[in-house]
Amino acid sequence: PKFTKVDQSTCIACGACGLTAPEIYNYNDEGIAYVILDDNQGSVEVPELLRPDMLLAYEGCPTGSIKVSKETFVEEGHRVK
Ligand code: F3S
Repeated sequence: PKFTKVDQSTCIACGACGLTAPEIYNYNDEGIAYVILDDNQGSVEVPELLRPDMLLAYEGCPTGSIKVSKETFVEEGHRVK
């Protein structure tokens, strides 16, 4: 997978993802995680070098809130770059 996005409706602000992959995930004022690269749109490819960290964060999230995909999370036509 190249794309990632945080499901903020289920994130419990546990803080694991930002420790595992600090270049990909950060937290908003409530401690809820988001993807730094594209403001949590899931529209920008995670650089190859960071993908192992992305997968570790994906596996490590206790609530399954980290989503990963081969495809962008943004529907064609609504793509924001
Ligand atoms: Fe939230 Fe999971 Fe990260 S609960 S803070 S998305 S590890």
